[in-house]
Amino acid sequence: MLNNEDLGSLLRRCDEIEESFCVEIDAVSTLEELVELERRFLGKGGEISSVSRQIAGLESDDKRTFGQRIGSLRQRIEDGVSQSKIELEAEETSKREEQEAVDLTQYLVFIDTPKLGSLHLVTQAKQELEDIFVGMGYQVAEGPEVETEWHNFEALNIPKFHPARDGQDSFFIDHPDGDYGSLLLRTHTSPMQVRLMQSGELPIYAVIPGKVFRRDTPDARHTPNFHQIEGLVVDKGITMGHLSGTVGAFTKAYFGSNIEARLRPAYFPFTEPSAEFEITCTVCLGEGCRTCSSTGWIELGGCGMVHPNVFSAVGIDPETYTGFAFGFGIDRLVQMKYAISDMRVFLDNDVRFLSQFKGVQ
Ligand code: PHE
Repeated sequence: MLNNEDLGSLLRRCDEIEESFCVEIDAVSTLEELVELERRFLGKGGEISSVSRQIAGLESDDKRTFGQRIGSLRQRIEDGVSQSKIELEAEETSKREEQEAVDLTQYLVFIDTPKLGSLHLVTQAKQELEDIFVGMGYQVAEGPEVETEWHNFEALNIPKFHPARDGQDSFFIDHPDGDYGSLLLRTHTSPMQVRLMQSGELPIYAVIPGKVFRRDTPDARHTPNFHQIEGLVVDKGITMGHLSGTVGAFTKAYFGSNIEARLRPAYFPFTEPSAEFEITCTVCLGEGCRTCSSTGWIELGGCGMVHPNVFSAVGIDPETYTGFAFGFGIDRLVQMKYAISDMRVFLDNDVRFLSQFKGVQ
């Protein structure tokens, strides 16, 4: 028979087993080590079973005490083992995933990030000009790019055989419903003067931006397709002074206050008197350079007072109403503002050129 002292030493033995388990379980780093540890503590002939065997020699009260201690020790070890198992399995899974992982990012190197586009420089200028004129109380109108000869020429007081109607200058459209030559790609935005006046609503304060087409051989200052913006004002008491003030106001608004505008006498069939308007050369700021042929000025567009013949063609009484019109190339304007040497880059669609002007305005 074992006595009380024996129970005490058995309980101490249990404490030792627990302590050594706690130390060893902390040191376990693989599942194989854990299986080995489990076998040593819980397996047949392991620590627990060999200490449990001692129960046989205890008195019945001590048996219960010792039995409970053995139970709690076994529980403690089982819990420790299963907790460690969960941790080790998670660790091994993530290690394996790390080893088996394929790095897909290396393939992304070849996929270019999509680049954001932007409005074409000419479109940006067109919108800026529209804003300037809207700020001055103008409406923005648009019209057809395919025009009748009547709107493009006749109504604008450009009769047949006028040099401006030379077949070399226009792209005519061959269409089944009319004589060859009665439709063409508009050579300027001025036919929209006629359309607006025909609509019968007066007064008119309008700008009309749009594409125009001429049979020009492309070079640094010409392309067969370019853009103009037309201005038309028809009201009672409109004078050349209003025209001059308007031209001055918008050139300053677009180019800046250091740029002056001036009018020089010219001839257009649909305005009388007519003028060309020029601005301070934006390259040399008036000093004189190659761009402005040493004059200090650059011609930008045409303008003048609406010709009485044009009023008659659209049925407006020139005794009651007067008006002015102007028109100029948007591409030329942009070319001047950014000192772009060759206008053909506007049509090349080369992103290396276009991306330099992302939202410049
Ligand atoms: N339509 C003319 C051109 O293309 C410009 C212009 C417009 C002139 C309005 C006078 C009045 O050259």
